[in-house]
Formats: sequence, structure tokens, C-alpha cells
Amino acid sequence: MHDIFEDELVYFRKIKKACSRFADFYRYQEIRTPILEQAELFEKGTGQTTDIVEKEMYSLRTKGGDHLALRPELTPSIVRAYIEHGLQAMPKPIKLWYFGPVFRHEKPQAGRYRQFHQFGFESLGVADSVVDASIVLLTFNILKELGFKHLVIEVNSIGDKQCRPYFKKSLVSYLRSKSSSLCADCRRRLKQNPLRALDCKEEKCQRIKKSAPQIIDHLCKECHNHFKFFLEFLDELDFPYILNAHLVRGLDYYTKTVFEIYEDTKEGREQGALAGGGRYDDLVKLLGGKDTPGCGVACGVERLVNLMRRGKKEKEAPPTAVFLAQVGDLAKRKGLVLLDNFRKSKVPVGEAIHKDSLTSQLKSADRAGAKYVLILGQKEALEDKVIIREMKTGKQKIVGLKRVISEVKRKAR
Ligand code: HAM
Repeated sequence: MHDIFEDELVYFRKIKKACSRFADFYRYQEIRTPILEQAELFEKGTGQTTDIVEKEMYSLRTKGGDHLALRPELTPSIVRAYIEHGLQAMPKPIKLWYFGPVFRHEKPQAGRYRQFHQFGFESLGVADSVVDASIVLLTFNILKELGFKHLVIEVNSIGDKQCRPYFKKSLVSYLRSKSSSLCADCRRRLKQNPLRALDCKEEKCQRIKKSAPQIIDHLCKECHNHFKFFLEFLDELDFPYILNAHLVRGLDYYTKTVFEIYEDTKEGREQGALAGGGRYDDLVKLLGGKDTPGCGVACGVERLVNLMRRGKKEKEAPPTAVFLAQVGDLAKRKGLVLLDNFRKSKVPVGEAIHKDSLTSQLKSADRAGAKYVLILGQKEALEDKVIIREMKTGKQKIVGLKRVISEVKRKAR
């Protein structure tokens, strides 16, 4: 867990702004749900046997005996809110987006933190694969706008409750035949959550999964068509996608489409997926609501920031064009008022009003890259005037305090 400030925060703001612009266009409403929820929400929603719930969720018992958890993701929280606030009765789709902290007790390493931030988009109520494609479109374009140039989308379908049980059976019998060569985790997964074995990063398991049965070959007609239409949308958009038959994602609620987006560079692969998502047609019912399809995505903000910082995709903050310097008590008082008048006129002005020495203030102006310095000395303060000095040439002009803002605006044009 770490503090976020200075240039890192500049990137955070930039990312949130981009999300907000896209959300407005596509009519997603922002929602802020509590950071603490009943642990049961994630045990049921994310899945009791997932790594996230089993190993990574921070949970606690309150003095009153409640079993709570710091949210390890937001999708179950969004579905809880959807049910709790009667959104089920509203015209569909219900489109919600969020930006906030998430907690997972992971081994800290590149791109993995214990408190990190996600932004995400969830669309509830429509089963059509155009929703899956539009969520990929939205995420891909936000990332592109943030400066990512080597994006790759990995896609797969993991079927639904019709076809997945048949696939599971054939996967389990294949894995059983190799069980002595599997890692200990996968031997355990074989009993509880065999699909997750396809996701294992251990080298020996990777070799085994190469010849494992593929869910794509076991999809029922409905899932097959859904996936086909989804891919046709991606083709139409000319998006760079790869079919990864082993992509299963680490959360239990997915049905049909799953996807992840990577920046396909050395640093990008080191960070891991920038975004992950998919369809979850059974989750609302599982959490006590009406049978409602859903689809969504979440993006790891720190992972984006790390790559943006390295590639310096964000320009340095523009230099402050104008800087106010003052000398003497009266000038300091008038300077404070003048600064506020600049703020009201929406003209940015730098200052070091806590300082008394003119030399030191001029140094600050220089460091800030100021083109003009407004000097309010004792004499000027008495006469309600101010000196405008051009830093580069040293040329000076004296103007009345009342005119200084319009004069600065004119010079900035
Ligand atoms: P997820 O794949 O677990 O999906 O997380 C989404 C993104 O969060 C990842 O692609 C990654 O960028 C970021 N992330 C995950 N763990 C960490 C970590 N420890 N440190 C930094 N970043 C991390 C979900 O959370 C689902 N709720 C996504 C979703 C929404 N599916 C449907 N709707």
C-alpha cells in the first residue's frame, strides 16, 4: 500500500478525467460503493475457491460480530447496489461506472499492490453480445487515448451452465491422467475449481495445458453464436485481438465472453493485464436478484500509471506564464487580494507570497518558467500600481492594479 502524490496523482486525475468523458458519452452513471462490505458478498459473488477470496481478501470481525471485507473488486458490490436500490425495475440496460481503491493481500511485485485502484464499467440487463463488444471498445479507446499504442486484446468464451459442466468433465479426466506432473495448487484445483488449472503460471502445468481440451470446442449453440457475434464486432472495429483458449480469468461469476487487455511491450507484459472483464449472466440471481444478464470490465490504474510514467506519456505541467512577487507588508496584503482576483478571472498566476525577499521570489519565478513577473513593491502598492517585467528581456511596464488582469490576458494571447 502506498501514498499517491505529485506526478503520480497527475496521472490518476488524467485517467479519471478520460473515464468520465467516455462515461458521459456512453451514458454510464458514476457510482461510489462502500469500501467495506459483508465478506459473504465476495465469498458468494467472486467465489469461495478463487485465489482472491481464499488467499487475498482482507476480512475482519467487528465487535458486533459482523464478518466484513475490504472489497477485493467491485463487481459484486455493483450488483448488490443494483438489487438494493430497485434498479431492476428500471429500463435496461443499467450502466454504471466507478473509480476507487481495491484491496488484495498479494505478494507485492511489479504491477501488484495490496491497495490499488480500479476503474470499471458494468452494464446490466442486456444479453446481446454487442454489449460485450461495446465494453471492449470503450476500454480499448480509453487506453488508446491515454497514449497506449501496442494494445492487444485476449479473448475467450468459457461457456455457461449448459455447456461448461461437460467441458469440466473432459478437462478433469485429462488433468487426472497427468495429475502426478501437476503442481500442488493444480492438484487441489482439480477437485475444487478445475478451470483455474488452465490459468496456472507454473512451467510444468503450462506444458500440460498445451494439449488440454479447449472449451471453445465444447460450447453449446447459444454460447457459440454469442462468441461468434462478439468476434464479428471486434473484426468490424478492426481491433487487434488474439483468441486465447486458456484464458479463464480468476473469478467464478463469468459466463460466455472473457477478455483481457495488455500493452504488448516488455514493460507492459511485466505489469500484467491492464484490464480484464467479461459477461456474468448468473451473478445477479446468485446474489438474490432477478435473473439478469450483465457484462463489465475493470482496469488497474497503478499499472497504467507505471507505464505512462515510464514512457512519459504525460507532458510536464505547462510553465506558469505569470508570477506575482511582492515587497513589504502593504504589498503582501494587496498581493493576496490581487491573486484572488486573478483566480476569479481564471488566469493562472504563480506565487511565493510567504517569501519577503524579491531576489528569492524572482528565483522561484525563474524555476516556475515564468515569462512575466508582476512586481508589487512598496511604492507601487501605495499608488495602486504594479510593474510587469518580461523575464527574458528585462523590459518593464507599469500599469494600474485595476488594469493588470486585462493587460496580462492581452499579453498571453
Ligand atoms: P481483475 O482481473 O481481477 O478483474 O482485475 C482487473 C484489473 O485490476 C487487472 O487487469 C489489473 O490491471 C488490476 N489489478 C488486479 N490485481 C491487482 C493488483 N494486486 N495490483 C494492481 N493492479 C491489479 C476484476 O476485478 C473484475 N471485477 C473485472 C470485471 C468487471 N469483470 C466484470 N466486470
